[in-house]
Amino acid sequence: MEIYKFAYQIIQEAGQIIRDSIDDDIQIETKSNPNDLVTNIDKETEERLFNQIKSTYPEHRILGEEGHGTDIDNTEGVLWIVDPIDGTLNFVHQQENFAISIGIFIDGEKYAGFVYDVMNDKMYHAIAGKGAWLNNEQLKPLEDTDLKTSLISTNPLWLTKEKLAKIYMPIVDQARSTRAYGSAALDFANVAKGNTSAYLTMRLHPWDFAGGLIIAEEVGAVVTNQLGEHLNILEANSILIGNKKIHQELLNKYFLPYKTMLEQIHTERFKGK
Ligand code: IPD
Ligand code: CA
Ligand code: CA
Repeated sequence: MEIYKFAYQIIQEAGQIIRDSIDDDIQIETKSNPNDLVTNIDKETEERLFNQIKSTYPEHRILGEEGHGTDIDNTEGVLWIVDPIDGTLNFVHQQENFAISIGIFIDGEKYAGFVYDVMNDKMYHAIAGKGAWLNNEQLKPLEDTDLKTSLISTNPLWLTKEKLAKIYMPIVDQARSTRAYGSAALDFANVAKGNTSAYLTMRLHPWDFAGGLIIAEEVGAVVTNQLGEHLNILEANSILIGNKKIHQELLNKYFLPYKTMLEQIHTERFKGK
């Protein structure tokens, strides 16, 4: 409980600092490609969280998107998986619709998840086995839905890829409608809240899903990769999350018929971080 309260507090403080500086000039750099951006706020937020965690719990380990814990290759002890800003493109273009995401694991077991929608001051949080909340309100168990009466979310980019379009286009076609939020952590939170019934995407890193995974599972979401396997929290994974019924429908009807192709994509692209 101590770690949970501490995490809650430092995430709220980090969010307050971001809100206070939202109108300041930011420094933007590109990473792997011209659309992969990082700002000084991403880096400063991770650095601040890292220093606070380390000064309170020196033995804890931290895997962060902006460079901390690159040598971490096992889940021993207390492991924090941190995305200081998930939805950096939204942060840069919209100054909203981004989140701080943290998942905490103890010896590989889920312990606590946080997704903080900073500009709306909405903290999604969960303790494994005890429930999930949005601020002070407990989130309800998910209701089963069918694809044809559901809102789902994904990244439209996957529809432009020839092989993946075979899977993604029929799903988008059959769903009631599709959303693209631009923050994987908020995509998970939206499923946990019941705003959407499923979220599917091809490649997320541990920091994109670690917080949301714990929150979503607490309300009964099924969270797997697109082969129906458990997520490895130290590797990139494809993602399929939804209430029990729609998860089964999507997996059996739309993904598993392409198992061989998906296995090949997983082997080629998802090994390593
Ligand atoms: C990204 C967002 C986006 C998802 C990308 C992620 P970032 O994280 O979660 O929604 O589609 O795969 O990389 O770079 O904004 O932290
Ligand atoms: Ca991210
Ligand atoms: Ca990020």
